[in-house]
Amino acid sequence: MTDCDAFRRFAVEAARAAGEVIRDGAQRPIDITSKGLRNLLTNIDLAAEGVIVDAIHKQYPDHDVLTEETPPGQRSSRCRWVIDPLDGTGNFSRRFPCFSTSVALTLDERSIAGAVYDPLLDQAFSASLGGGATLNGEALHVTENTELIQTLIGMDWTRDAKTREQNACIIAELAPVCGTLRICGSAALAICYVAAGFWDAYWHLCLSPWDAAAGSLIVREAGGAVTDLAGRDWQLDTGPCLASNGRLHDQFRGYVNQGCDRIP
Ligand code: IPD
Ligand code: CA
Ligand code: CA
Repeated sequence: MTDCDAFRRFAVEAARAAGEVIRDGAQRPIDITSKGLRNLLTNIDLAAEGVIVDAIHKQYPDHDVLTEETPPGQRSSRCRWVIDPLDGTGNFSRRFPCFSTSVALTLDERSIAGAVYDPLLDQAFSASLGGGATLNGEALHVTENTELIQTLIGMDWTRDAKTREQNACIIAELAPVCGTLRICGSAALAICYVAAGFWDAYWHLCLSPWDAAAGSLIVREAGGAVTDLAGRDWQLDTGPCLASNGRLHDQFRGYVNQGCDRIP
């Protein structure tokens, strides 16, 4: 279980293969259905999932798989692939050009390799535990920024009313003190923007395991921090997720908590 880099290479290949399906699907009519409030499913989410799961079953038949669109089976292995086949389905369904695919391998619920791929920009973010983070093979490092007023901070909306109100309050807390704020609509990709130094920090109040299984490793391997609201390391079942360059983390976390506390 030591060759995390072979797993990383596999994750990149699988994400690229799914990305091809997504890129192609974006040029054709899209079948869209609803999974619930503010939650869409397209034929391409399922097609991309099929490509990744088939590749895993072929290469690592003994490993477990957790993927967004298929209920999980019984656990039988310490190794589990955690997959978001198409992250940013809302964007994709309207052909707004910002979406990705995310593939991570966890060992005992800890990410040890992962990749996030943007099929339109052909950007493959990846990392392996202890092996650093890269974008298309080039090493990634978080920013060195320590001044909030110079930051570019990303966030994203949740689906439920309370955390949406909390998000609005966090914006009200941060907007006067930060450089500026951005929303891209693909959480998996947004987290990688922190790793790449495009952004200094990012928050989301309710992430699923597949949204950040790969991205959390990529940020940490790029030198950043990924925690919950209390500052504990983000884990697959944590929910709220704060990613940053590390240097700003406590300051940033303070503002996010202040916003959340306004809506008890
Ligand atoms: C969603 C996106 C979005 C985030 C949502 C996620 P999906 O994932 O990452 O940016 O705000 O919370 O559920 O449904 O497109 O895979
Ligand atoms: Ca997602
Ligand atoms: Ca998805």
